[in-house]
Amino acid sequence: MPRPIRASISLSALKHNLGVARRHAPKSRVWAVVKADAYGHGLARVAQALAAADGYALLDLNEAVRLREAGSAKPILLLEGVFQPADLEIVDRYGLTVVVHDLEQILMLERARLSTQISVYLKINTGMNRLGFAGPRARAAYDRLQAGGKAGTIALMTHFADADGSAGVAAQMARFSEWTAGLQGEATLANSAAILRYPETHADWVRPGIMLYGCSPIADVSAEILGLQPAMTLASEIISVQELKPGDRVGYGGTFVARHSMRIGVVACGYADGYPRHAPGVNDSNTPVIVAGARTHTVGRVSMDMLCVDLSAIPQARVGSPVILWGEGLSADEVAASAGTVSYEMLCALAARVPIVEV
Ligand SMILES: Cc1ncc(COP(=O)(O)O)c(C=O)c1O
Repeated sequence: MPRPIRASISLSALKHNLGVARRHAPKSRVWAVVKADAYGHGLARVAQALAAADGYALLDLNEAVRLREAGSAKPILLLEGVFQPADLEIVDRYGLTVVVHDLEQILMLERARLSTQISVYLKINTGMNRLGFAGPRARAAYDRLQAGGKAGTIALMTHFADADGSAGVAAQMARFSEWTAGLQGEATLANSAAILRYPETHADWVRPGIMLYGCSPIADVSAEILGLQPAMTLASEIISVQELKPGDRVGYGGTFVARHSMRIGVVACGYADGYPRHAPGVNDSNTPVIVAGARTHTVGRVSMDMLCVDLSAIPQARVGSPVILWGEGLSADEVAASAGTVSYEMLCALAARVPIVEV
């Protein structure tokens, strides 16, 4: 028997969440963001489940090729473009769309031998200050791409730094409008948070990522309130039960100390499965878990293959009782908040050793 841990991926939840994105941005086409192996959910299955998207956006050239070879004829956007000149041969062969964010990439494009013109998304750096051209360099890059003759359509793109936070999008929107005024081409600006909070950002294409997977991009608004359904449920079972006396400690470092007699369960899930090691499990600060349908919390440190949970209020729990670490009934956002991280990181960190089942 394999360990009882597994991740269930709900194809209907993925489809439902795409519908939510569409309802918020009804006039826009959708680049489904499927980078990082579709945020840990598996690229091939997610691409199939999201066949109603208008295109797929990802980073890795090999993932793009896999998607094409699996039969997808939709546009595929490489969000960081190419990394070396040889990549452009593959872009050409597989009909991929590339982001251009740096002068080096324009030079590569100018020197490339292509069978046809390539669709380009020109990335404008409006304030994130990671990738893209800012100020007058944006127009200069556009003109140079146009003059080079290798770019077919040129679309305009930016990415928001704080669409989920208090800064919002106004300053970046203003720069985008100013720096692209008069330039022809479709535009794409909005990630999940902007799709949900700022209709004025929707433009020709939106780029939802985290919301497709059923998590909230906005810290103080739950996925449930947003009408999103969790696409991934990480589930396992209790593999051992311990009775503690007052003063007994649990796990490495003995960080949890029992204040009274209590039952704890040992769950087959640890940080080598992708569960966040920093999820707290002390008396005043712990992390939610569902055991046998009842909500409880972690006790002690998360170890490589196991973590412990309080069973004091769940007398029916025993070896074999089902455990939900996140997903159905317990949002990954809530677990992430306890662990001082974001659901993005947890979903992407799901370990290869965890078997995946589609539901
Ligand atoms: C360029 C770009 N667009 C869109 C997204 C999707 O963002 P989110 O998952 O917050 O919707 C990402 C993800 O980080 C991104 O890098």
